Amino acid sequence: MKKILVATEKPFAAVAVNGIKEVAEKAGYEVVLLEKYADKAALLAAVADVDAIIIRSDVIDAEVMDAAKQCKIVVRAGAGFDNVDLAAATERGICVMNTPGQNSNAVAELAFGMMVYAYRNMYNGTSGMELKGKKLGIHAYGNVGRNVGRIAKGFGMDIYIYDIFTPQEIVDADGVKRVDSAEELYKMCDVVSLHVPATPETKNSIGKALVGSMPKKALLVNTARKEVINEPELIELMAERTDIKYVTDIAPAALEEFSKFEGRFFATPKKMGAQTAEANINAGIAAAKQIVAFFEEGCERFRVNK
Ligand code: 3PG
Repeated sequence: MKKILVATEKPFAAVAVNGIKEVAEKAGYEVVLLEKYADKAALLAAVADVDAIIIRSDVIDAEVMDAAKQCKIVVRAGAGFDNVDLAAATERGICVMNTPGQNSNAVAELAFGMMVYAYRNMYNGTSGMELKGKKLGIHAYGNVGRNVGRIAKGFGMDIYIYDIFTPQEIVDADGVKRVDSAEELYKMCDVVSLHVPATPETKNSIGKALVGSMPKKALLVNTARKEVINEPELIELMAERTDIKYVTDIAPAALEEFSKFEGRFFATPKKMGAQTAEANINAGIAAAKQIVAFFEEGCERFRVNK
């Protein structure tokens, strides 16, 4: 009997775990749970005899893979897979997948929750601003970015995107305006919502030059990854430009320093963009189905390592 480990430091909603079990049990597989684990040692012990692993932002590095002697597949129930060492997985013959699009609406909705929160001065009762009529820059127009665009229409925002990968047909069908560079996007937009993955190219790329070029009362919303922000530069900029606000779903490494910008900085206590029952169900069940299809049919759709 194949064994799937669901290793989630930040647990799925119980209903999603039940859904995962249902899919797995129907295929004759067993599911074991490791939730809210305290340290890596717990993860190393739990992976010892499993054939497949479902994770969220949990880190799967070479050490974990070496401890997971039987493991053939790791599915990141979510979009970003920067928490998995892909090269180490390939070396060990482990297939790595993600579940693109399954949690993107949840993340996009939170981006708007944070935009409204920031524009209404963190709900402190003072007079704030409205999103309607403002220029929204969507930096990277993947699954989350597109959902942000869809919701922004309801708010009556003027929508601009920067993304080199999105086909023009999609841009045209969605009725958003494409700009040719990140520089152009930041320079013209009142609000920028970040949706770039953390890659060697994007890490530390959002700093003083881009954010500093934004118009007065600029708002930067980050529901992507903390690593894409050049934190020292953003701190320096926010000290100089007291009109800039930064809200994020991923606490910065320099949380204490950012927290000094009272009323202009906010970070959720725990990354919670994808933390809805719906997103957990979608991503968790998709992950379970992908694992069953991998073992039963050799299906490698959504594989992200070579
Ligand atoms: C993702 O990459 O899918 C999101 O960042 C959500 O991450 P999480 O599953 O850790 O909440």
